[in-house]
Amino acid sequence: MCGIVAYVGGREAADVVVDGLRRLEYRGYDSSGVVVAPGAGAALQVVKRAGKLSVLQDALRTVRLGGALALGHTRWATHGRPSDANAHPHLSEDGRLAVIHNGIIENYLPLREALQRDGHVFGSETDSEVLVHLIEQAYAGDLAAAVRSALRQVRGAYALVAAHAGHEEVVAARATSPLVVGVGEGEQWLASDVPALLPYTRRVAYLCDGDVAVMTCAGVRVTDMDGRELERPVETVDWDAEAAEKGGYAHFMLKEIEEQPSVLQQTLGGRFAPDGRDVLLDLSLDPSAIDRIVITAAGTAAYAGTVGAALLETLARVPAGVEIASELRYRDPVLDERTLVIAVSQSGETIDTLEAVREARRRGVPTLAVLNVKGSSLAREVDDVLYVHAGPEIGVASTKAYLAMLAAFALLAVRFGRARGRLDDERAEALLRGLRGLPQALEAALATRSRARELAERLATARSALFLGRGINVASAFEGALKLKEISYVHAEAYAMGEMKHGPIALIEPSVPVVAIATTSARYDKTIANLQEVRARDGVVIAIASEGDGTIAAHADEVIEVPRVDELLSPLVNVVPLQLLAYETALRLGRDVDQPRNLAKSVTVE
Ligand code: AGP
Repeated sequence: MCGIVAYVGGREAADVVVDGLRRLEYRGYDSSGVVVAPGAGAALQVVKRAGKLSVLQDALRTVRLGGALALGHTRWATHGRPSDANAHPHLSEDGRLAVIHNGIIENYLPLREALQRDGHVFGSETDSEVLVHLIEQAYAGDLAAAVRSALRQVRGAYALVAAHAGHEEVVAARATSPLVVGVGEGEQWLASDVPALLPYTRRVAYLCDGDVAVMTCAGVRVTDMDGRELERPVETVDWDAEAAEKGGYAHFMLKEIEEQPSVLQQTLGGRFAPDGRDVLLDLSLDPSAIDRIVITAAGTAAYAGTVGAALLETLARVPAGVEIASELRYRDPVLDERTLVIAVSQSGETIDTLEAVREARRRGVPTLAVLNVKGSSLAREVDDVLYVHAGPEIGVASTKAYLAMLAAFALLAVRFGRARGRLDDERAEALLRGLRGLPQALEAALATRSRARELAERLATARSALFLGRGINVASAFEGALKLKEISYVHAEAYAMGEMKHGPIALIEPSVPVVAIATTSARYDKTIANLQEVRARDGVVIAIASEGDGTIAAHADEVIEVPRVDELLSPLVNVVPLQLLAYETALRLGRDVDQPRNLAKSVTVE
């Protein structure tokens, strides 16, 4: 997820754009850049730097960019590490055309190869750069027509803005990634998100997928990909700047929970093989050279790893287990060159996880990271990285990154299963079809927020809470308990359901509600038996159940229904009501949801 800002009008355009980028820095901060078109055919002026926006601002103190039209970008790296060369904008070889892009061009590799065969010279490792060369190739005096022609060749998600030295206009287009117009008098703006606009205008018009917009100081004309005029209503935003950074949501955590369907699409995007029976992961490791997998992480990332271990063992029949990083790093583990250590981390800066990886490397063990933040320490210390594309996760409680990690492990398990000949065509096709359908299932799961709000009172007043799961959903129970603990401060414990009778069932009483994951599974009958044991002791059961389950109501006091999906994929859906239960409980208790007490987003110290 990146931040885009464009301006045309009577102000110093570079200043307006950089101010807007500062307000969008929460969308990504790996690098940033600005380009100004001084007008009257004069050459474009570009300054771009790796690092936070402050690095670009320092550079701009020594370079004066004057002009009435500018584009700017703050990057969240997906393809190509954070560097000056990979920073946007990207320029055509003649320096007269500049393009900025947010999103993922899934078919960028074949496009890049074809453009290079046509003599185009690439200056970056990014997928985005293909856009400037495609537009340059199609340009014959009409910039909007050239943008449309280029976009007909790409597959993937984009929000782009383009400027040309010979035009006093900005051409923009969007598909999946957001773009909003800021409407002024004699001046206009474009941005990825509303915060960049608020100091100047509250009148906005949201572009839709397939829109192409031509922005001049007089106004913005919107067409479809065939050039047919479209009307986009102008609305008035009543957010303040801080609320706007959250996209109108009360908290980043809620915004990030709601982003999960699109995050899943971004993480899965471009990774399905055309035959629908395998995945494309761009990894150098050889699954047939691995006899055992040790997954290491902390907190929520470790629970994601637990789901990952279950998927890898089930689909690829490779022994896989999770070791908490703060233990693995000290316990002189037995690891050898046929063991793969997978480090899981949102930030890539968790010291325990980094030290566990360093210990593995000291032993000559191959290492892979399942990771969100490009260019992080972890990215530089492992042999291979399987990136999740969750975008910046601001809320301390991890939600969308956890979900993206689960999706990444599902892809990895399919790859390992296919490579090791343990996953047949039919099962692979069914799983990948199920993965494709998950964003829609997540949208339905998000609708359980009203049920979570109703049930929050029970958890807010509880002395403690128990979270129970079976099989692949034991990890879901642990993740649900952690979410509740870390943002509402209500004590919670998680157990494998079968463990209840070995002690924890002594805790059962009405003041200790039990949140039970009871979705469709091969052991559903055992789950029902466990719920009967709880209720026979006056326990209160809140069941997460599959839509249309006619049995569960007789065994639970409250039911939250989620869409029915493949059991192996159910943790990706079941976690949503658990996140919402924690969120609504914390709200009811007046907690600081985004920055809970005692916690930090990334634990970079011992
Ligand atoms: C999860 O909500 C917590 N913020 C915490 O457990 C977190 O998952 C853990 O510290 C690991 O962080 P990482 O994914 O950045 O390595």
